[in-house]
Amino acid sequence: MPYSTLLFDLADGIATITINRPDKLNALNATVIAELDDAAQRVAREPDIRAVLLTGAGTKAFVAGADIGEIGGQSAEEGQARARAGQRMMRRLERCGKPVVAAVNGFALGGGCELAMACHLRVASDSARFGQPEVKLGIGPGYGGTVRLPRLVGRGRALELLLTGAMIDAHEAWRIGLVNRVVPADRLVAESTDLLRAILENGPLALRACLELVDAGLDLGVDQALGLEAGRFGLLSETADMREGTRAFLEKRKPQFTGA
Ligand code: COA
Repeated sequence: MPYSTLLFDLADGIATITINRPDKLNALNATVIAELDDAAQRVAREPDIRAVLLTGAGTKAFVAGADIGEIGGQSAEEGQARARAGQRMMRRLERCGKPVVAAVNGFALGGGCELAMACHLRVASDSARFGQPEVKLGIGPGYGGTVRLPRLVGRGRALELLLTGAMIDAHEAWRIGLVNRVVPADRLVAESTDLLRAILENGPLALRACLELVDAGLDLGVDQALGLEAGRFGLLSETADMREGTRAFLEKRKPQFTGA
């Protein structure tokens, strides 16, 4: 599928997906949502894609939210369908089985903050700003803001952001655990790529297991989640990569993982 609102570039196993509507601060209209949904499926499907770096075009915004021009006149049914389409896309990205880093290069507001939270890790430029300003428009979040924000930063901090609609800067976002790293703006892509490269040195089946176990385990009781982890530990024990990883350690060399 050729994209009209995304740039998709694959190099060294890392797919860089750039939301490309800089004149509208990369706001999420229905086309962006549909194209990101397609891109997330492509990431899950194609073995050559081992990780994703997601960012926004231009210097000002990662994503400034849902496209306000589109949502203004929507009916209840249309609003619900719009929320479900965005949620489905973000869930696909979150469950694509490969590490996804959001490189947040500016405003990450509303749907932009929600999209960043659906990524596994967030690297922010020092000029990035975050917020869930939907209440200022008289509508609440629709793409998982009330679900992922409290899981990331805790209920009290999440409710403060959701109820005030206030923006916070990158350092405050780091302090409360909303982002993993803050880097100078001109280092954002390089630092995000370095982070992904470091991750990709590890066994791909083990990476997938971490992503899936954390995703499932957070919604389970401790004993059930531990059971899942033990089962996966057992499955990974019989992989060629596990044999290679442990042998390489003992032979004091770098492992050569094949994903088998
Ligand atoms: N949806 C649609 N268009 C948007 C948008 C959004 N969420 N955010 C910005 N834009 C558009 C603006 O309308 C403007 O378009 P125009 O040049 O055709 O008038 C363009 O992007 C630039 O934005 P502008 O508001 O002029 O930039 P600014 O520097 O003055 O302010 C923001 C930047 C991010 C503070 C401001 O754009 C804003 O508050 N955006 C909405 C954020 C929001 O509420 N998101 C949640 C939506 S549910």
